[in-house]
Amino acid sequence: MDRITARVEALLAKMTLEEKAAQMVQVPYAIVGREEALRWARLGAGSFLHVLGDDAREVQRIAMQESRLGIPVLFGIDAIHGHGLNAHATIFPTQLAAACSWEPEVLRAMGEDTAREVATDGLHWTFSPVLCLGRDTRWGRVNETFGEDPYLAGELGAAIIRGYQGDDLADGEHILACAKHYIGYGEAVGARDACDTEMTYRKLREVFLPPFKKAVEAGVASVMTAYGSIDGTPFTADPVSLRDILRGELGFDGFVVTDWDNVNALVTRQHVAETVEEASVMAARAGNDMIMTTTQFYDAVVRAVRAGALQERVLDDAVRRILSIKCRMNLFERPEKTGRAGCLGCRAHLAHAREAAQKSIVLLRNEGMLPLRAGMKKVAVIGPNADDIRAQYGDWTYFSHPTPNPGHAPVRPYVTVKEGVEAACAARGIACAYHRGCSVPDGEYEDIEGAVAAAKGADAIVLVVGDVVDQVGEEKDRADLALSGKQEALFDALRALGIPLVTVLVASKPLALGRVALAADAFLCAFNGGMFGGEAVAQALFGEINPSGRLPISFPRHSGQVPVYYNQLPGWHAKPGRGYCDLPRTPLFAFGEGMGYSAFAYDGLTMDEKTLTASVRVRNTGAQAGTETVQVYFRDVVSSVLTPDKRLIAFRKVTLEPGECRTVTFAFDAADFSLVNRREQRVTEPGEFELMAGHSSRDEDLLCASFRL
Ligand code: NOJ
Repeated sequence: MDRITARVEALLAKMTLEEKAAQMVQVPYAIVGREEALRWARLGAGSFLHVLGDDAREVQRIAMQESRLGIPVLFGIDAIHGHGLNAHATIFPTQLAAACSWEPEVLRAMGEDTAREVATDGLHWTFSPVLCLGRDTRWGRVNETFGEDPYLAGELGAAIIRGYQGDDLADGEHILACAKHYIGYGEAVGARDACDTEMTYRKLREVFLPPFKKAVEAGVASVMTAYGSIDGTPFTADPVSLRDILRGELGFDGFVVTDWDNVNALVTRQHVAETVEEASVMAARAGNDMIMTTTQFYDAVVRAVRAGALQERVLDDAVRRILSIKCRMNLFERPEKTGRAGCLGCRAHLAHAREAAQKSIVLLRNEGMLPLRAGMKKVAVIGPNADDIRAQYGDWTYFSHPTPNPGHAPVRPYVTVKEGVEAACAARGIACAYHRGCSVPDGEYEDIEGAVAAAKGADAIVLVVGDVVDQVGEEKDRADLALSGKQEALFDALRALGIPLVTVLVASKPLALGRVALAADAFLCAFNGGMFGGEAVAQALFGEINPSGRLPISFPRHSGQVPVYYNQLPGWHAKPGRGYCDLPRTPLFAFGEGMGYSAFAYDGLTMDEKTLTASVRVRNTGAQAGTETVQVYFRDVVSSVLTPDKRLIAFRKVTLEPGECRTVTFAFDAADFSLVNRREQRVTEPGEFELMAGHSSRDEDLLCASFRL
């Protein structure tokens, strides 16, 4: 028996049934209030969420000094893109924005900085990353995903987990990560948050499990159960996904936490249990170790065990897993993580936030307008999201979740697009005019004429459109992805001036932009870029950085075209090359797309059947150094079940000087070309395959080589 196991077993042997039940409860501090929170600490509650700094320290002190066994408490927080519920933290781009970097190191650094900042608040655990896929962009939480592709989500998810957790959970600077929401949450029917996913376990294994598998391989310490259900079975009550697959097959050895009040939801929302007692038994049996916010679980399981409706060893197993993590974090000796003094919003972290914002910029259209030229006299920055830091941050900051920092004013340093462009103009002696134009959504403010007047005489218009926090997040799914309010009218009025116009998207996710992107001279996607999102936009517009982001998600032409993710199954009975009879099948902008001020040409794709090594040559044909993301996809030509015409299997970023040529090599093994068959087994079926490599997922951007396995 190792040291941790021995310690856990010794502790478990001393625990009463009540103490075991309490250890499984996670108490919502802000909801129950201080007095009640301290009562729970005395009872031996295992965890608290959404409490910061001195309040957390007080709870910890009471738990360790006044509970019978003095077991330290684990504090969880939603540090989703930075420790953003603390108003003084570094705010990074959202997961979706950062995913545009296609760079695991960007995510690792973001995770590590966030961990340090969370730790300085005395906390131990972030409910991040989201490994759900953003396939139906009507869903309110697409901004929290790494986009639509399971391979990319897995690579970036594993990287941020390594950043959060480091090599040693006990070092005082790293925190627990939480892979969520397990599983298929983003796939709810109609993108209706938390609804049923019309999914089979085969599909779950094929598409949605791989990112979680990589998270487990990266050592993720906790997993959060999804709100929804799979074919009628709530994930909270599903031992197949939680026990058989997650623990049995993936070998996950951390603990499982439910999502917010999932146990009550079995009664109130999903109607599969009559009482919270019945629901608690279901949840414990299914494999949930910690119960978020449903504090009635405590009495319910104690009663259930006493009545013989639940075996105490179910609780023993859960408590073992929780205590093991507490030991691994060295909480008994050092309950308070201290991070690194002064690291909250420190210069090193801000530098990473700035770099992440720069690498998240995706240039999707440029009809010769960009970069903006130094000789201009006037630039006009127009639009509702040009100077709105709340919209630039998006979800999960002290604006969208103000509980720990109610009513907090925006904390510098941050740079909006307006401020970024103003600074760039000032440095070049260019005049800069600003006008908001209209509000998002409708109603609050509209002055299109004023915006047109401000733009008159400009050499270039920067129009910043998008969505706002009220349209983003939980319970905010959208049926209509078109730009809301008067944003299209604002575009039309400005376009009519005939001045070169670049549209910039500051939004939580792809919207159905139509002409606002296509009829502009240039279009640049910034999503929610965090503190330096606006500065990065300005740098890209003026050519101070060469945009290198690539889309991790497809843009629809229209809400009715959703889902439009690239790796769909074939078989659509549509005319060749067509899709809907009133809309093409292709998206407005495709997965993997993105350009810069360089251009890249590919040739010489080879795939060695014996070694399964592929190589391709890429050349910078542009006039300046640039970074390309070489993307590799494959197709299983004939398979026992339908497989997508394209699946991402590898990618590599390369920076090339003008004229420079590089051969990029990828090594695969047969398992990389696998599928999940009808018997739910992951197998590689022999036969013909195609390997594709190039600039994006679009057919016209890819070279193709056939090979056999
Ligand atoms: C509910 C959300 O679904 C989840 O992502 C989050 O971590 C918890 N609430 C805690 O705030």
